[in-house]
Amino acid sequence: MNPTDAAWLKRFPELEILITSDTLQARVRALGEQITHDYRDHPPLLVGVLKGSLVFLADLMRAIPLPVAYDFVAISSYGAETHSTGQVRLLKDLDSPIRDRHVLVVEDIYDTGLTLSYLLGQLRQREPASLRVCTLLSKPARRQAEIELAYCGFEIPDRFVVGYGLDYAERYRNLPFIAVLHGQS
Ligand code: IMP
Ligand code: MG
Repeated sequence: MNPTDAAWLKRFPELEILITSDTLQARVRALGEQITHDYRDHPPLLVGVLKGSLVFLADLMRAIPLPVAYDFVAISSYGAETHSTGQVRLLKDLDSPIRDRHVLVVEDIYDTGLTLSYLLGQLRQREPASLRVCTLLSKPARRQAEIELAYCGFEIPDRFVVGYGLDYAERYRNLPFIAVLHGQS
């Protein structure tokens, strides 16, 4: 663990680190290289899913030296709970049409899959030139809807995680690492 992560942990003793900031950064750089290679002839529109993907998207796009653009959608799902209600709704739509564009959805975590399958269904109707998904984390244990992942940072066990954009009741999004809360599932 690097000294920065250690200093954060002192202030948040309820956390246990699952993925250190160094490991995250190295993986994000590798994903960026892969995406740069795959999209070299047709730079993508990166579509971040608010709010969780913000930190990942910010780091990822700076690891993609191509003329990319980015936009956001917001989708309701969990509220302040740690388990999905299964209710999905589009709260904020894209600013621009995506017809004939190469769209890469950037998500924080693929858990049950309900959010991503709903979003992909919505976006597919708009006839983008291509539509793929890059997720930082995947939690296969609780899958309800299967989607195809073009890029995945890490597969993680069935634990509720926070940090690097992911929250528990809006807290912990600013942690530079991924952690689990002591006493949480
Ligand atoms: P899904 O629809 O169940 O795949 O969940 C997708 C959304 O639920 C993610 O974008 C997260 O915002 C949230 N989520 C799922 N698992 C976790 C977790 O372990 N920690 C924090 N948020 C989570
Ligand atoms: Mg999210």
